[in-house]
Amino acid sequence: MIKTLSKEVQAKLRSGIAIFSLQQCVEELVLNSIDAGATCVAVKIDIEACKVQVIDNGSGMGREDMEKVGMRYCTSKCGSLEDLDNLRFYGFRGEAIASIISFAL
Ligand SMILES: Nc1ncnc2c1ncn2[C@@H]1O[C@H](COP(=O)(O)OP(=O)(O)O)[C@@H](O)[C@H]1O
Ligand SMILES: [Mg+2]
Repeated sequence: MIKTLSKEVQAKLRSGIAIFSLQQCVEELVLNSIDAGATCVAVKIDIEACKVQVIDNGSGMGREDMEKVGMRYCTSKCGSLEDLDNLRFYGFRGEAIASIISFAL
């Protein structure tokens, strides 16, 4: 019988990138720091609590960005098809944080 996947399964499958390890999670967060122009990045990992904290001195986010961050396909790094020909950042799909959220649920 054909059924619609639950929202949770959709969230895990839809991503072009699937983050399923702590290492990948840290890598994506550090790449975001570099994309933000950071020259100093600190990574704190609490293995037992499975908590990761990345602190950087990059450009940061505006208040309005907080409503969009973590939503799939929301990115500040790509606005048009032309931008895809001039990639200047490690990320541009707006998927990594959304994927980390799916992984963390
Ligand atoms: N360390 C950071 N400093 C500033 N902005 C960030 C940082 N991490 C994430 N962001 C913002 O969150 C958005 C979503 O991040 P992400 O899901 O990794 O997608 P992408 O890197 O492909 O844009 C980024 O486009 C950026 O605007
Ligand atoms: Mg990214």
